Amino acid sequence: MNGISKDYGSVHALRNLSFKLEPGERCALLGPNGAGKTTTLKILVGLLTPSSGTARIGEFSPSSEEARRMMGYLPDDASPYRSFSVRENLEYIGALRGVEDVSDRVDSLLDSLQLREYERAKVGRLSRGNIQKLAMALTIIHNPSVLLLDEPLNYLDIPTQETVIEHLKNMNSTQLVSTHIMEVATRLTDRVVMISHGSVVWTGTLEDLRKLGKDNEPIERVVARMLTDVL
Ligand SMILES: Nc1ncnc2c1ncn2[C@@H]1O[C@H](COP(=O)(O)OP(=O)(O)OP(=O)(O)O)[C@@H](O)[C@H]1O
Ligand SMILES: [Mg+2]
Repeated sequence: MNGISKDYGSVHALRNLSFKLEPGERCALLGPNGAGKTTTLKILVGLLTPSSGTARIGEFSPSSEEARRMMGYLPDDASPYRSFSVRENLEYIGALRGVEDVSDRVDSLLDSLQLREYERAKVGRLSRGNIQKLAMALTIIHNPSVLLLDEPLNYLDIPTQETVIEHLKNMNSTQLVSTHIMEVATRLTDRVVMISHGSVVWTGTLEDLRKLGKDNEPIERVVARMLTDVL
């Protein structure tokens, strides 16, 4: 995205924000609450129109048919159809996404994300963590080449976090992961775009970020220092 600004009325959520991901790259969008992470993802997925600047998914506009087919988006408040069962949600979205052999794909996701025992359960009766697992399965059902994930490990228990991390690592896609949790960034990505008040304040590899720390300073403290400096 290039020179993106986004205003919500008088709130300047993004200010001249620019960054680019190479194909296959995994990058964390890091920043404090209200920095503009969710707004950035919503622009990339075509749900919001920037006030100025341009966003591209490859060579395509985010709202184009081509970009939509390529992308998988996990919102921060993912809400599958509550009156459908887990399996019905997966089969419905799989069919809409044009997945071949939907039933086989659904079986494989149910097993790999440990959702098999809830296959017939209505979403309205699931725990928050299991809803998040289903939302992740719905996001990746069509094997998207571009993944936009907003706080993907929220609500997940530790074993499921590990399963999801493993799953995402094995996917051959470009991944942008929004989080304010450093641990999520280090487990899922290699590079960081750090934003604050809607602008990029730092970008580089996690390795570079660690090097900015003194002695054995925790990476969280390095980030906190960098973000405090720009507040
Ligand atoms: N629909 C909206 N109307 C008005 N202001 C909004 C709206 N959505 C977001 N904002 C404002 O835009 C700014 C960026 O919000 P955004 O949700 O993108 O931040 P974030 O980095 O995702 O934060 P968090 O870590 O809390 O999820 C904030 O100041 C927020 O209050
Ligand atoms: Mg957010």
